[in-house]
Amino acid sequence: MSEEKSKIAFGPKSSSMSFPASFPASFPDLSEEASQALLGYADLLRDVFPMKAAHRRHLADNIQELSSFLIEDRKEVLGRDYLHTPAALGAYLWYFLPWNLLRLTRLLGGLKPDLPEGANIVDLGAGPLTFVQALALARPDLLSRELHFYCLDTTPKPMREGRKLYHGLLNALGMAESARWKIHLVHAPWHVALKDTPRADMLVATNFMNELPWHRREPLSEQVRVFFREVSSSLRPDGQALFVEPGNRLGGKLITLLRESGVGAGWNVLGPCTHPQPCPMLAHRETSWCHFTVSTRGCPPWLEELSREAELRKRDVSLSYVHLAGPQGRRPDTKEDLARIISAEFPVPDREKGMMTGRYGCAVHGKVLILSGQGEAGTRSGDIVPVHLPEKPRHDPKSQALIGTLHPDKKPRRATRRPEEVKSPGREARREDGGPNRTRKK
Ligand SMILES: C[S@@+](CC[C@H](N)C(=O)[O-])C[C@H]1O[C@@H](n2cnc3c(N)ncnc32)[C@H](O)[C@@H]1O
Repeated sequence: MSEEKSKIAFGPKSSSMSFPASFPASFPDLSEEASQALLGYADLLRDVFPMKAAHRRHLADNIQELSSFLIEDRKEVLGRDYLHTPAALGAYLWYFLPWNLLRLTRLLGGLKPDLPEGANIVDLGAGPLTFVQALALARPDLLSRELHFYCLDTTPKPMREGRKLYHGLLNALGMAESARWKIHLVHAPWHVALKDTPRADMLVATNFMNELPWHRREPLSEQVRVFFREVSSSLRPDGQALFVEPGNRLGGKLITLLRESGVGAGWNVLGPCTHPQPCPMLAHRETSWCHFTVSTRGCPPWLEELSREAELRKRDVSLSYVHLAGPQGRRPDTKEDLARIISAEFPVPDREKGMMTGRYGCAVHGKVLILSGQGEAGTRSGDIVPVHLPEKPRHDPKSQALIGTLHPDKKPRRATRRPEEVKSPGREARREDGGPNRTRKK
């Protein structure tokens, strides 16, 4: 199944709500221009961040070291300038940055944030300007608008390298002459820097919140609420905020709590939720978390090779995100009959119907186990699908989710996966997160 479009044709409905004929894909493929730019990104990295032969020889080890440092030695990361050494910075620029570019570019391609001429965008913990570069790859049409990016970080070097990489990307995209973006680097902790930045039309933080020193003694929800209150006061009331974190348990939890803080303060949820109801992932006893898993299609061969060398090959990439609009900003409609798919598909045995295909979705009713006949439907993580719930829906005893079906009036899409999505991953390939299992026993 192509990830280009989620084409679900909607038939007549019993309620007065009408659905659009198709939804754009949540994580569309990279454009041809963006793919080419990522293909040549290794040359750009070599120009911007030249490495001595010995440094290059140790690059894979440095990547592995930084990876375990970020995952396992978290306490040491918090509040430390860990990207200031050439070894760590090289590892970040060659491995973490391009993987983040890939997942962010696909996300931004689906979100299509609206940024008017003259808009101020504030990026917390900007690092090597990952967001700026991903937006240029996903939305080159915006390059002709004068947009001001205020990139905030405690470590200046990655931002400087990122600015060079951004200019290199403009060359690769053929936009060096016409691009009108203004990049302002602000070297300070976020709460200090925000005092001197203009009010934001858009606030972004990508892979940032998980590095803040959250204290064990206080409830995380309260700390996130205070953080949200502080950052949102630097935003225009009609502005928007985008938070993206790794698709792991901590990332998902932080994103869900941010969403709750936003809703509590009168903000509107533009995505991924199809509703403003409390997040079912915060329910007592819920063991999963909100995240999306996307194929690695679009990954350039040099990055695959380097990841293999570092024994960190990926078979998919995952992320958690929330896109919010200020109290005077855009208002999304609650989509009563639509669910956002939040898991992969798995087989579900049914006493009457035999083997069914299931996947979890999130809808206005909460978490829903959405069933379809085997071989009938193909859904991907992040899709928005029409769901039918019977008048008195049952709860799935295992997950406590309501049980529904893919909308019965519709012909669901057939899963015709591309070969690279079904091939079995090598032994060294790892999932990025501990998300819902691909198979599920009843
Ligand atoms: C994992 S990197 C993410 C960089 C980039 N946003 C990305 O998505 O690739 C986290 C960044 O947050 C910065 N950072 C950590 N704590 C900070 C703070 N209190 N204020 C500003 N920046 C901070 C770090 O220096 C680092 O560059």
